[in-house]
Amino acid sequence: MFHMKNNPSALFKKIKNLSFIALLFLMVNCADQKPPLPETKEVSLKESFADNFLIGAAVNDALISLKDSLGANLIKKEYNTITPENSMKWMYMEPQQGVFEFETADRYIDFSTKNNIAFIGHNLVWHSQLAEWVEKITSAEELNASLKNHVQTIAARYTGKIHGWDVVNEALNEDGTLRNSLFLEKLGPDYLVNSFKWAEEADPKAELYYNDYNMTHVEKRKGAIELVKMLQKEGVKIDGIGMQAHWGLEDPTLEQIETSILAYADLGIKVMMTELDITVLPNPWDLEGAEVSQNFEGSEQMNPYSDQLPDSVATQLAKRYKDIFELFVKHSDKISRVTFWGINDGHSWLNNWPIEKRTNYPLLFDRSYQPKAAYHSVLEIKQDSTH
Ligand code: G3I
Repeated sequence: MFHMKNNPSALFKKIKNLSFIALLFLMVNCADQKPPLPETKEVSLKESFADNFLIGAAVNDALISLKDSLGANLIKKEYNTITPENSMKWMYMEPQQGVFEFETADRYIDFSTKNNIAFIGHNLVWHSQLAEWVEKITSAEELNASLKNHVQTIAARYTGKIHGWDVVNEALNEDGTLRNSLFLEKLGPDYLVNSFKWAEEADPKAELYYNDYNMTHVEKRKGAIELVKMLQKEGVKIDGIGMQAHWGLEDPTLEQIETSILAYADLGIKVMMTELDITVLPNPWDLEGAEVSQNFEGSEQMNPYSDQLPDSVATQLAKRYKDIFELFVKHSDKISRVTFWGINDGHSWLNNWPIEKRTNYPLLFDRSYQPKAAYHSVLEIKQDSTH
């Protein structure tokens, strides 16, 4: 038999084989061990801003029914308040006259109660996403009775479980006058006073808000202030004003935002950012706000980041979020809540407004629920301030 000892080349081969096996062993075992997570001082959004204001998000049915468990877990981790994006609007809550659908809303309330999340009802009175039967009502008496029944039935059902209600949504025109909705046309400005009064009667403990977009625009701001003063003069309870905050990378300016926060706080009520998002896409008509009836066909030019957001724009978005959160923190004695209108970019209504089927990136989490640079930049504010 040929012995290895006497054959250096066979010995070398054997060693080579053994090293190969050892290397393979190491590779398999190392692959099993995940690389350590990068050391981070970041805590969640809700923990970071716990001393400042509630931090929330608009949520949809998939999250609440836990079909989207990643999203549901993220809600529990990051936010301490939620607002249903659509499900509590009139067309879903009372699709036929006097017939209420509570199932979905009940699920939202259960989810928030179980997870100690402050629930914001959105909304009781809005001219949009109304049920068809309401639009067909011709008599003022019937409309008034239907409005009262709608507000009282829903507010009463959730007494003690709702942190606050967007009682009236978007009742103003851009020039600050009252929007000529079905309600104003048939019931006059009394519908505003009555809606707040009925909500208070049904749920005396819930906070009651007026909520609108473009609340930094001078004329609209004047109108909103007049509206709140009118409610206060009538002796009805109004606890806060919701600046929806559907904003762009540059508009409104920080100065306009600050002036508005101060002006609303002067009314002696809470100020909230209720639907915050920041569009990064071109807006050829300079549309601002959230007038949902303005919708247009798109073109490729109007959808420049369909594959991914360029780093330069991601950085711009992160800076914009950091700037506005610095301002919110500066005025956190006046601001009680900041709610994002959605959790991840893929869910945002801004993928379909003002042009349908675009790819927008307005939130803090990407389409796979990964935190974006904007998320980190917002958290940095609190880290910076503790150093
Ligand atoms: O319910 C139908 C569904 O049956 C259908 O299959 C689907 C197909 O498109 O449409 C569904 O309805 C959509 C609805 O959201 C629910 O997903 C509507 O088309 C769509 O227009 C509607 O958009 C919502 C919009 O309000 C309607 O006014 C957005 O998701 C929601 O983010 C947006 O939220 C508003 C706030 O309530 C008030 N402030 C402005 C804000 C942004 O517009």
